[in-house]
Amino acid sequence: MEQQEEKKYSVEIVEPKLFSGAVADEIVATLNEAISEHGRASLVLSGGKTPGAIYRLLAVPPRVSEVDWTKVSMYFGDERWVPKDDVQSNFKMVNETFLAPLGARAPKIFPVDTTASSPAAGAAAYGKIIKAQEPAGADGVPLFDLMLLGMGDDGHTASIFPGDKTAHVAGEVAFAPTNPHDNLPRISLTPQVIFGARRIVFIVKGDTKADMVKRVLEGSESAEALPAARFKDAASRVTWFIDSGAAKNLTQYK
Ligand code: 6PG
Repeated sequence: MEQQEEKKYSVEIVEPKLFSGAVADEIVATLNEAISEHGRASLVLSGGKTPGAIYRLLAVPPRVSEVDWTKVSMYFGDERWVPKDDVQSNFKMVNETFLAPLGARAPKIFPVDTTASSPAAGAAAYGKIIKAQEPAGADGVPLFDLMLLGMGDDGHTASIFPGDKTAHVAGEVAFAPTNPHDNLPRISLTPQVIFGARRIVFIVKGDTKADMVKRVLEGSESAEALPAARFKDAASRVTWFIDSGAAKNLTQYK
């Protein structure tokens, strides 16, 4: 058996039908750990299609009563530059799957203001809100308890797309990239903030992700080429939840 190099991050390969429940349980456990450690928890939500089923599970029994959601502050890892009621809005997805069902027990949530004068102004305003709400870590950037991240077929995560050179403005909390696939502006937290979180959970589901999962987890391409690979800077705090479809090309994880 080939000597497996020491991996500091963990990989949970889960059957599709158990995937959302397994991730929801990890979120509950991590939030409760933070709440017992420092009285509250800060959670950054991922957008896209995969997390909706997970958010729905968090908003209904049994999990809805396993966390004191009033002690949780929630943010967005990225947002599309559209109105909050637009079908592409991550806020709309989170509101429908999680906030509305939670009702009065809803957490404090801080959406991106996509009515600002420009995406750059929206990113700057979001950074100010976050800095006002969250304590800074050692490197002076806000320190989140849990960062949920998806991964696109192209290896992007949040809205950090392959080859993006604008993301790495030291000290900035959020920036305003453009999605190269549709030329739509986005707002995204910066790599420094994303990968500085206390805990990072990647949520990757579906056969279409299998090639990219192999490249990121078993390849050696740069974080600029595959932004999801930057997690290796934070490996000891990272857990990958991958369903068996997305994991099918992996050879180093049984
Ligand atoms: C977004 C996301 C993005 C997403 C990946 C995976 O706003 O689109 O934050 O980074 O997580 O594109 O998306 P799916 O879950 O839809 O495959």
